[in-house]
This record gives sequence, structure tokens and C-alpha cells, in this order.
Amino acid sequence: MPDVTLTTLQSLKAKGEKIAMLTCYDATFAQAASRAGVEILLVGDSLGMVLQGHDSTLPVTNAEMAYHTACVKRGNEGALILADLPFMSCATIEQAFANSGALMQAGAHMVKVEGAAWLAETIRLLAERGVPVCAHMGLTPQTVNILGGYKVQGRQENQARQMRADAIALEQAGAAMLLLECVPSELAAEITQAVSIPVIGIGAGSATDGQVLVLHDMLGLSLTGRVPKFVKNFMVGQSDIQGALKAYVTAVKDVSFPGNEHGFSA
Ligand code: KIV
Repeated sequence: MPDVTLTTLQSLKAKGEKIAMLTCYDATFAQAASRAGVEILLVGDSLGMVLQGHDSTLPVTNAEMAYHTACVKRGNEGALILADLPFMSCATIEQAFANSGALMQAGAHMVKVEGAAWLAETIRLLAERGVPVCAHMGLTPQTVNILGGYKVQGRQENQARQMRADAIALEQAGAAMLLLECVPSELAAEITQAVSIPVIGIGAGSATDGQVLVLHDMLGLSLTGRVPKFVKNFMVGQSDIQGALKAYVTAVKDVSFPGNEHGFSA
């Protein structure tokens, strides 16, 4: 496929064609996933859990994110590389500049930051300096200790109203993309309609502009044995990993994944 850029993603949204994203942490999987047609490789800080074996993403450092971003860059064949800014890497604007600069220099085309409207100024300043930003809203794993666990967000009307307003504020600040994690499907559909930038969902129903899963989850691998409701094992019915990656892309594109059973109600 031709190299995926922000313009590609915007035109996929405009055409109503779903965007396939997967997490990816190394060169071999970057090659396999990009060859399978995955448009966005997310170097997620979930690597702290699935690669490093931590019980949260909090221990991950920006240097580790840059290392894995560079690995993914070496294997990638045309996908857009999105790299996570890890816990406390954006606490000040100086940190946001330095840490996002390191990820972009390692090979990222866009960075992802967890948070809501309070990030507007950071996103604006990064975008002005050439760093496209994806804002990760809803369940933000880096704030698990504030949220009191990995829980669906936006179920109450006041929370839902706030999330809709935050999404619009972040688009206005210059966010290039939104990612919604574990939010009721109906709310995710409303937010997707309300903004003109692409919205990617995980546990957010089928109406978002695209989907993301953690690579290990969709290959049926689990360190803890706990499989979130929004996960589907794409190895089932496939004889190899390449087949599973292609089946994921097909299912996202033809909207057979996610099904109702993978989503949450308000
Ligand atoms: O780090 C990650 O893998 C993520 C996904 C769960 C969206 O942010």
C-alpha cells in the first residue's frame, strides 16, 4: 500500500472506510502488520504490560518508547507510526516538547497522549511545532489510580457531556486524531459524528472511524488470563499469524468487528 499519512486517514474518514490500527512493538511484527494492510501501527505503552510484564503502564519510560518506535520503523512497510507518550512525560510543556521530539526522531509520525481538555494547550503547541497529536480519551490507563480501576468511562450523562465537549475542544486545539477507549458505543458514535478528525475506538463500538486492539490480545495471547470484553481472538480459524492479521483488517473494514458483544452500553 502507498505510505499512510494524515491525509490518507482523513480521506478514509471522509469516504466512510474504516481504519485498521494495531499495537506493534518490534520490526518483525511491523513488517507483518503493515503487509497485512494495517494502516496505523501504535507503539503503545501497553508494552509495559505485554512485553515487560508490569501490572500497569506506569513504569514505562520515554527512552523505552523511543527504542520500540525505532524497532517498528525498521520493519514498517508504509503504515503510519503512532507512538505513545508514557506516564508523566507531558507534565510540563518542556517535557512534552523533549519527549515528543525524541519519539518523532525515533520514527513516529504522530504521538498519542492520554487526557482531556486540559491538554488543549499542549496539543496546540506541539502541532504548531510539527508534531501531530492523537488524544486518548475515555479509559486512560495512565490514570488508573485516579479512576479506581480499568472501568468504562462516560456512562453518566454529566461525564458523557464533558467527553463530547472535550473532544470538540481538542479538535479545535489542533488534535489530528482521537482515540476512545472503553466508552459506551452510543457516546462514541456521537463523538465520531461531532468531530471532523478520525476517531479510533477500542471497546467503543463499531461506529468510530477505525478500530485498535493490542496485538497480543488479538493473537490470543494473555499473560494474566484476563481477556477484556472488547477483544476478539483472530487466530481462531487461521493457520498462521499473517492470516490472523489479514482477518483483523478485513473484519475492521467490513465492520464485522467489533460486534455488539464487544461494546458497552451507557
Ligand atoms: O498502549 C496501548 O496499547 C493503547 C491501546 C490500548 C489503545 O493505548
